[in-house]
Amino acid sequence: MKIAIGCDHTGPDMKRALIESVLSDHEITDVGTNSEAAVDYPDIAHEVAHLVAEGQAERGILICGTGIGMAMAAGKVPGIRAARCGDPYSAELSRRHNNANVLCMGARIIGHDMARKIVETWLVAPFEGGRHARRVGKIG
Ligand code: RB5
Repeated sequence: MKIAIGCDHTGPDMKRALIESVLSDHEITDVGTNSEAAVDYPDIAHEVAHLVAEGQAERGILICGTGIGMAMAAGKVPGIRAARCGDPYSAELSRRHNNANVLCMGARIIGHDMARKIVETWLVAPFEGGRHARRVGKIG
């Protein structure tokens, strides 16, 4: 799968850990940042969200301190359904019910193992369609 990934200065370690493990078999576009120098999370969210909205990536993954700012910013881009998840069950339902195309996580909230499990779950869970398609359509 083509996946765009990005983080602010709170997330390079988590991003690297994901790229080297659960994402290693995927085609990754890493938009940064890769240092602890402060950057503004909306700039990173904007890049990843546009790659997904324009079809250059099928999914996006965003990491900031809480995952909240990234989800707010990415969700402003038309066509993006960004889900901030802190557990695998939410990640699974964000796919099955909400057809989330961007996953946001908080590097100050969860550990690397939990992030790996969330991503693993999120990548394979299918969108169920049916009544959920009608509801997701109303979001659009
Ligand atoms: C940066 O300090 C922090 O505000 C950011 O990573 C994020 O948590 C915003 O939602």
